Amino acid sequence: MANLDSKDIDAVCGLVDDLCGICWDDSKAYLIESRLEDLVKEQGCENYQDLVRKVRAELVPGLKEQVIDAVTTNETLWFRDSSPFEAMKNKLLPELIDNKAGSVFPRRLRIWSAACSTGQEVYSIAMTLAQTLPDYKDWDIQVLGTDISPAAVEHAREGVYDHLEIGRGMDQEHLQKHFVKQGDTWKVSDDLRSMCSFHQRNLHEQFTCIGPFDIIFCRNVAIYFGDQERISLFERLAEVLTADGWIIVGSSESLASMGERWHPEQHCRASCYHPNMAAKDFV
Ligand SMILES: C[S@@+](CC[C@H](N)C(=O)[O-])C[C@H]1O[C@@H](n2cnc3c(N)ncnc32)[C@H](O)[C@@H]1O
Repeated sequence: MANLDSKDIDAVCGLVDDLCGICWDDSKAYLIESRLEDLVKEQGCENYQDLVRKVRAELVPGLKEQVIDAVTTNETLWFRDSSPFEAMKNKLLPELIDNKAGSVFPRRLRIWSAACSTGQEVYSIAMTLAQTLPDYKDWDIQVLGTDISPAAVEHAREGVYDHLEIGRGMDQEHLQKHFVKQGDTWKVSDDLRSMCSFHQRNLHEQFTCIGPFDIIFCRNVAIYFGDQERISLFERLAEVLTADGWIIVGSSESLASMGERWHPEQHCRASCYHPNMAAKDFV
């Protein structure tokens, strides 16, 4: 196989942008090789441009999905950054629940993990709900996890984790309470699992038949997108929030540069956002 040249890089970056909206450029040559070299070989391609042609022509069933799985970074852990879960427990949920009292659906909660990777964020949200609402089984709760990577969504849906995965942020109390040991792995309990559902979804596509949500976790994904796509994404997320709903972003992310619409509120050291609906027309 020939070495990666500038035409290969352009072709791959164009494909990755079209499939996932992820911005790669020639500084990502090492990533292209490490993520896609095996696929180029397996598919008997002459070079990376050849692989791109095959994907675009949809000649091989499932190849597009394999490329998406390979180029996405599914790094995640349990209770990542801890502060959003503290904010949920101490501020967001009590406030949302108070607001719902006397409404048509006082016991309904909808939460979306918009790039859920292999599910740790979704189940951490569900565990936080179980901890905050001891009678959670009597509530109408749904935690939706979506991600563009079919392999990550399948892993999340299965809810089975090995020692290495469990070792990243899980504490003994939650493990004993919400997981069942299966040989060398741990499986999410049926109670926790029944609160959660999973779907493959590309955040760049229209959000049809989804929401409204009380809380949206959109963490550590928009960092891979271009500026316009990032602004558009959060605009569309705001459209599927309830009137008093919250958006939570990653600890190194901020929406502050996106204009009047977005002012962070710090709760338990987490940046939480209520979109300023009055500022919509200025965006
Ligand atoms: C670094 S992980 C973050 C997981 C989790 N939110 C967290 O903070 O631990 C980023 C995830 O975004 C997903 N992703 C990337 N582009 C996406 C897109 N266009 N639509 C939906 N998910 C996407 C990847 O597949 C990956 O699982």
